[in-house]
Amino acid sequence: MAYGNWINGAWVDARNDATFESISPADNDDSLGAFARSTEDDVDAAVEAADAAFHRWRKTPAPERGEILFEVARLLRERQEDLAQLMTREMGKVLNETRGDVQEAIDMGFFLAAEGRRLHGYTTTSELPNKACYAVRRPMGRIAMITPWNFPIAVPSWKFFPALIAGNTVVWKPSEDSPRVAVEFCKILEEAGLPPGVLNLVTGYGEDAGAPLVKHPKIDMVSFTGSVDVGRGIYQTAAGKLNKVHLELGGKNPVVALEDADVDLAVEGIAWSAFGTTGQRCTACSRLIAHEDVHDELVDKLIRQAERLTLGDGLNEATDVGPIVNRHQLKRVHDYVQLGVKEGANLATGGEIAEDGALAKGTFYRPTIFTDVSSDMRIFQEEIFGPVLAITKATDYDEALALANDTAYGLSASVYTNSVFQANRFLEDIEAGITYVNSGTIGSEVHLPFGGVKNTGNGGREAGQTAVDEYSDWQAVYVDYSGQLQKAQGLD
Ligand code: UN1
Repeated sequence: MAYGNWINGAWVDARNDATFESISPADNDDSLGAFARSTEDDVDAAVEAADAAFHRWRKTPAPERGEILFEVARLLRERQEDLAQLMTREMGKVLNETRGDVQEAIDMGFFLAAEGRRLHGYTTTSELPNKACYAVRRPMGRIAMITPWNFPIAVPSWKFFPALIAGNTVVWKPSEDSPRVAVEFCKILEEAGLPPGVLNLVTGYGEDAGAPLVKHPKIDMVSFTGSVDVGRGIYQTAAGKLNKVHLELGGKNPVVALEDADVDLAVEGIAWSAFGTTGQRCTACSRLIAHEDVHDELVDKLIRQAERLTLGDGLNEATDVGPIVNRHQLKRVHDYVQLGVKEGANLATGGEIAEDGALAKGTFYRPTIFTDVSSDMRIFQEEIFGPVLAITKATDYDEALALANDTAYGLSASVYTNSVFQANRFLEDIEAGITYVNSGTIGSEVHLPFGGVKNTGNGGREAGQTAVDEYSDWQAVYVDYSGQLQKAQGLD
């Protein structure tokens, strides 16, 4: 089956008719179809459509835009199970989690649809009599969105819904590893009544389609979730056009288990955060900093927990851990593990590609734990994006905190402690945008801000009350009804 781009409300092939295939990571013989391998010509057509639609969409009253989003959220809820099944087939994570992925979009849809009747600005006073002052939101224009495969419905929804409710139009380039889910998402937007050109889909690869999209002179803003290297490149390109850029990049998220941690609770939260989604979340726990009093017990229990997890096709409800998304990523994860061994860390469990029986059809990796990891090792510093946990021992709170902060990233972080003093000190001292007490590093909710500090981004936040801010420009309004020339700053 072949799937085209969605441009100006029509499904069209790539101009040069080129295609690429999407295959299931659980079974590489299972193809999800052929997709448009877009190039600059397709991007141009999509941006032109977004540009033409912008002038109408920005004039559509926001409550009316909200009605469409309500319908999108309703359809997502109606199709949740089908979308979850398709998503598991296409990118691998287990059904329970793909249901959660769609749920985040449903939540975001209802949350932001209602913004159509708020989109608050503010009124204020003037320095002068007979003069009204207020500030309103205006849309930014045509926004390029480039999104990853690991949350192929949730992450785009965090970008689309606030951008659309604020009156912007969109050109979307989803990951080449999840084009089928992207097509189905667009079909829902179409069915919900989104007017032609308001959101346009161009599938394909970063170099062919993403790069010309970011460079396009009619694009006003770029929103990107993905790796630091690609994010930095996008930021540099957009700087030349003075475009706003929203970046959600990597993480090297720590759990800190202090001496008074509830060890069994911590084991559950760490295993879920490190091996859930096969470790392929930007919020995944990839480092455990354990106080020496609880270290050995935590290590023993985590190894047992990791070894109990069942690898397999995520469509099977008995599976705990699905495949790695593709062969390239599988190799990358394995290379990191071999590097960890070479660096002198102790490989406590896992560390191998799983190929027994049906697993040989896909790209599976055993949940892996390293102990005796020191902060100068690359496996402590670099994002692996796989089921690999690095454990480091600390002697007290100060050392644990310093280790947790010894990273270029700052997305999510968690502390396990029963002390209200230590928990609050940690919340204040940790360098992270998302923080947890007595829970793992994953599981953000859509009505709180999502994003991080340091190399995780460039200061913006998705979701929460700040979502709409990312996609609106502020306009200051001064209305003078004195009938005279009044000068501000007290001038005569
Ligand atoms: C991501 O990995 O890019 O907090 C998003 C979480 C999810 C979102 C993860 N709600 O893990």
